[in-house]
Amino acid sequence: MPQPHSSQTSALQILSQTFGYDHFRGQQAQIIETAVQGKNALVLMPTGGGKSVCYQIPALLRAGITIVVSPLIALMKDQVDTLRELGIRAAYLNSSLSMSEQRDVESALQQGNLDLLYVAPERLLSEHFLNRLDQTQLALFAIDEAHCVSQWGHDFRPEYQQLGLLATRYPHIPRMALTATADKRTRADIIQVLSLQNAPVFLSSFDRPNIRYSIVEKDNGRKQLIDFIQQQPEGSAGIVYCLSRKRVEETAEFLQSKNLPALAYHAGLPQAERIRVQDEFLLEEGRIVCATVAFGMGIDKPNVRFVAHLDLPKSLEGYYQETGRAGRDGLPSEAWMAYGLGDVVSVRRMLAMSDAPPEVKRIEAGKLDALLAYCETASCRRQILLTYFGEMGSLPCGNCDICQNPPSTWNATVAAQKVLSAAIRTGNRFGAAHLVDVLLGSETDKVKQFGHHELPTFGIGQDLSEATWRNVIRQLVALGYLLPDLEGFGGLMSSEKARDLLKGKETLWLRELPAVKVKTSRQDRTSPKASDLPADAQLRFDALRALRLSFAQAQKVPPYIIFNDATLREMALLDPDTTEKLKMISGVGEQKLARYGQGFLDRLSEVRSAPTDQPMSYPEPAQEKVDTLTATLELVNRGMDRAQIAEHRGLSVDTIGGHLLKLYHASKVTKHEILFLESHELLEIQKTAQELNLKPKQTATKALKEALNHQYGYADLNVALWLW
Ligand SMILES: Nc1ncnc2c1ncn2[C@@H]1O[C@H](COP(=O)(O)OP(=O)(O)OP(=O)(O)O)[C@@H](O)[C@H]1O
Ligand SMILES: [Mg+2]
Ligand SMILES: [Zn+2]
Repeated sequence: MPQPHSSQTSALQILSQTFGYDHFRGQQAQIIETAVQGKNALVLMPTGGGKSVCYQIPALLRAGITIVVSPLIALMKDQVDTLRELGIRAAYLNSSLSMSEQRDVESALQQGNLDLLYVAPERLLSEHFLNRLDQTQLALFAIDEAHCVSQWGHDFRPEYQQLGLLATRYPHIPRMALTATADKRTRADIIQVLSLQNAPVFLSSFDRPNIRYSIVEKDNGRKQLIDFIQQQPEGSAGIVYCLSRKRVEETAEFLQSKNLPALAYHAGLPQAERIRVQDEFLLEEGRIVCATVAFGMGIDKPNVRFVAHLDLPKSLEGYYQETGRAGRDGLPSEAWMAYGLGDVVSVRRMLAMSDAPPEVKRIEAGKLDALLAYCETASCRRQILLTYFGEMGSLPCGNCDICQNPPSTWNATVAAQKVLSAAIRTGNRFGAAHLVDVLLGSETDKVKQFGHHELPTFGIGQDLSEATWRNVIRQLVALGYLLPDLEGFGGLMSSEKARDLLKGKETLWLRELPAVKVKTSRQDRTSPKASDLPADAQLRFDALRALRLSFAQAQKVPPYIIFNDATLREMALLDPDTTEKLKMISGVGEQKLARYGQGFLDRLSEVRSAPTDQPMSYPEPAQEKVDTLTATLELVNRGMDRAQIAEHRGLSVDTIGGHLLKLYHASKVTKHEILFLESHELLEIQKTAQELNLKPKQTATKALKEALNHQYGYADLNVALWLW
């Protein structure tokens, strides 16, 4: 059993010895310091940002026990298993334990044998438990998923509102509230309910840089989904969100018919089945869950590689939360959506038909407009998301479909006028298909039945294709120029907003239909994928993964609790052959080293000495270069910056800077990840370079460095010249 930490032990030492990580992320260090000093705090950090260590490390540094309030039983077990694997004295108390197990936990609490105890709020608030706490030395209250106090959020829990009691009953015990939901109203509720008025607020950027956002125009959604899944690394775990239970079941069956390991999950299934699906998703590798939004809360699986939406989510908030379940481990992940005309028409109609009070409807309309604008955007998707959540001024990300394949826009004023007048001339009651027939001059039965072939608009759209017309109509609905009928027959009518456009007082630019993409094979994709490992490392990765699974099965825990994918990948890449080297790998702390270190080293040594059928066993010099780039990329994907990578790899900042530029050139990293200069610095360098007659993308010269009084290293100078 580990000894309690002495007052000399620093937070950083615990991070490295116990958790196996070598530096804090973002504001973790300040948050921990605040709690260690006994002060309250509100922590707003995105999913997978690393909130847990913010209270877990103070729990080890402060005398007494830390009580963690957590809303979900499934979440508690996972967290406690993870902590125990690290050698931390943690337990949970909830109804899933037998009476005698509960008694054991309570006596451990009484004897001071625990550092962390996870409880549900109703348990915490029971008089019996509070009496126990009165007799216990308390270190900290951590209120995880603190947005559950807010009625406005999607996860409101009435018991959370009563947690205000902690402030009055235990005024001297610090409280730390943590959530990944950052909107202002929720934040205000948390502060009020938990009495955090004077506490510092630690707000991190909500960007999830490892998630790539993309939206395709839906034609055959399920077929597109299959294509998308087949482009993912083999064995990728994912979630496919659908609107209805029926769609969930159909989609799961369809994927199964294509030999994909798909499962169905929705609130209509018996509880036992839901638990089975959830367990299979967590414990096995590479499962694909088709689900309604009922699935997700409490799914802490870090290596979900993709989240796909086959139907429009309810709002951008919902979308961000759902897609946020991908890539909690920080490795490259995909958020993919198929979206088409039918979706726009049906959500617009649902809004129009809603009998909510006008002010609620206005809010809903605003949210819907934001969602549709996101879908239809011709600029960086991440910028739109971050702006929506209040983070202004970010650069285009380089890791979304729009940045990577910018759509062109065209002046669609005349085309839009044609559509609108076709709608008006046909009585504002026909759907998209019929309007397209009229525009193209197709003499269908329906056209003839209504005499629409005699209208002046008949056939005025033969200059554009059917697909283009559907695309135009979709954007007109999304933008609110066309409105769906209320009866639900799919009819479209010209709106108030369309007036100026019809009169020619307004110019309308629309996105062009994306060019039909040639299917990319697994090898020639530009964006990095979580499984892009060099062949020899892949061999080691597979061997290590098999070993991990056998340890996990023996312990009855999910594989990622033994070591997560990021740790395993680094092991596979660096191929350590001593305990010392193994210890350097991120995610290998003392306890895990003691427990599994030898096993993993042995397995690596087996792979090393195994005869291979491949002739190549020693890398060529060129190969070595590729590997060093991959190793750097790996660390970028783990969230390290240039200086940290240099330190970690024992290479110079300039060398790593060179790697980053090459990776940027190969579209493997984004501008954010190579640029460490303020914009005025960038300008200063570029201006000086111009004065020295240097050219963009040229390598920085000594003269440039000198002209800038040696203020910048070569790595920064090169970046500035590259981005010139
Ligand atoms: N400083 C660090 N260096 C490397 N990895 C870290 C660091 N801090 C946390 N992590 C890892 O990041 C992952 C996500 O952390 P954590 O579970 O705390 O996320 P979270 O913020 O609670 O997210 P959620 O909102 O989904 O609950 C974990 O695997 C954790 O071990
Ligand atoms: Mg968490
Ligand atoms: Zn972008």
